[in-house]
Amino acid sequence: VTVFVPRDSSAISLGADTVAREIASQAIRNGCAVRLVRNGSRGLAWLEPMVEVQTPEGRIAYGPVTPADVASLFDAEFLHGAPHRLRLGKPEDHPYLAKQERLTFARVGVIDPLSIDDYRAYGGFVGLEKAIHRGGAEIVKAVTDSGLRGRGGAAFPAGIKWNTVLNTPADLKYIVCNADEGDSGTFSDRMLMEGDPFMLIEGMAIAAHAVGARKGYIYVRSEYPYAEATLREAIRIATAAGFLDHFELGVRRGAGAYICGEETALLESLEGKRGIVRFKPPVPAIVGLFGKPTVVNNVITFAAIPTILAEGAEYYKNYGMGRSRGTLPFQLAGNIKHGGLVEKAFGVTLRELLYDYGGGSRSGRPIRAVQVGGPLGAYLPESQFDTPLDYESFAAIGAMVGHGGIVAFDDTVDMAKMARYAMEFCAIESCGKCTPCRIGSTRGVEVIDKIIAGRDAEGGPQVNDREKNLALLRDLNETMLAGSLCAMGGMTPFPVMSALKHFEKDFTHA
Ligand code: NAI
Ligand code: SF4
Repeated sequence: VTVFVPRDSSAISLGADTVAREIASQAIRNGCAVRLVRNGSRGLAWLEPMVEVQTPEGRIAYGPVTPADVASLFDAEFLHGAPHRLRLGKPEDHPYLAKQERLTFARVGVIDPLSIDDYRAYGGFVGLEKAIHRGGAEIVKAVTDSGLRGRGGAAFPAGIKWNTVLNTPADLKYIVCNADEGDSGTFSDRMLMEGDPFMLIEGMAIAAHAVGARKGYIYVRSEYPYAEATLREAIRIATAAGFLDHFELGVRRGAGAYICGEETALLESLEGKRGIVRFKPPVPAIVGLFGKPTVVNNVITFAAIPTILAEGAEYYKNYGMGRSRGTLPFQLAGNIKHGGLVEKAFGVTLRELLYDYGGGSRSGRPIRAVQVGGPLGAYLPESQFDTPLDYESFAAIGAMVGHGGIVAFDDTVDMAKMARYAMEFCAIESCGKCTPCRIGSTRGVEVIDKIIAGRDAEGGPQVNDREKNLALLRDLNETMLAGSLCAMGGMTPFPVMSALKHFEKDFTHA
């Protein structure tokens, strides 16, 4: 019997390794031949460790499985064919998965991430094989036609970026993958790297062939040791199998700075220097790593490429709405009952994600605020939950889809404290290059502290100071918005101002 136990970090943190060991020893005890496959996670985080068993009817899932459940699982299911209380049925029929539109995550949780045979059996390397017989301009055109925009958060059209690199003459060009996934509540990059690393490698190899690059790097955050190890092994396997003959790909580990997810700070860090933001222009597509034209894209952007090449630009473009084409792996986190990964075409609403998939808050209390797009994203109140998730609709309400992270808060949240948190985060993570961000964020924490102290002071709010401090906070935000060099200082005002706009009472009444 073949049994699947995820090797994904989230499953491991919930005991998957111990469960796997227990399955192996129960197999010996029961004289039952078990082939143990360590797959990626399907992304139903609350059911991890989710164990699957291959049966004649297909795979059957059980979860969440603890080591103490393994003996009874063997007894009931494997030996006597009686249903176990943890039986979830076929994973693809589970309501969380059945209505997803998994293009990028189609194989994640299904295959053994380090089996190149599995990868090929499920359509892997078809995109690269097609790309090899095409010229650079033709590949770039397919990427442009697909409508794919950068999945790291900025949503810049990938085809236009690649075209700039293609048309910039140079002796050397680079492909760099930004895997420094620093946004709060996001984990799609990690899940992809741990669950289907060959897809990222294939996407980068196609990019290299398209723009004429021979070298590439994946910059992985230090907090992702499993992803790093999986990637290194996958690169070794893909190289040995001859898929990277003209493309030398390496992995570099970050050192824990949020700002190194900003592409120019990332390039500095890759060059061995301190991660400080560079002025743009020139964009990295023209002057990038070691001064050479460089494609810098996020993990999910590269991982979307094989599908586009294999199935065609039209196929990918048929998903989505408006100018947001294709799918995005949304990540549900925070105070949510069913946290995990939901890949859907653009256009799905927050309400659908929060309630149909997420099942509402974990605490059972009403969801009061949601932060979308990481720590620099706006806080949205319930009245905005019906906004479709597409880049333009979100921009129209002063919010952003970003990297697809969705963090829910119930009605016990103190939004003034959340605004303070945004400023404090910026103060801690600022690279220090420009004044509005470096000094502004520290002053921002101080002024919000004064507002909170005034709010909580005995004898009611100190009205005069309160108005003065609120005006100061608004002014400071405008300065940071207009005067910061990069998104760190330039977008910190979004969570702060949205908290003030939609939840003003939290700043004035205890
Ligand atoms: P940006 O708008 O400056 O640039 C977007 C991309 O387009 C860059 O790669 C830039 O080099 C490229 N570009 C612009 N014009 C170009 C041209 N003419 N030719 C070729 N390439 C061109 O945005 P930025 O500062 O790179 O990213 C900000 C975003 O990062 C935010 O919206 C936020 O959502 C996201 N972010 C994501 C995080 C994560 O963990 N994934 C963490 C923090 C921020
Ligand atoms: Fe550095 Fe902040 Fe300026 Fe960005 S905005 S360059 S992080 S100081």
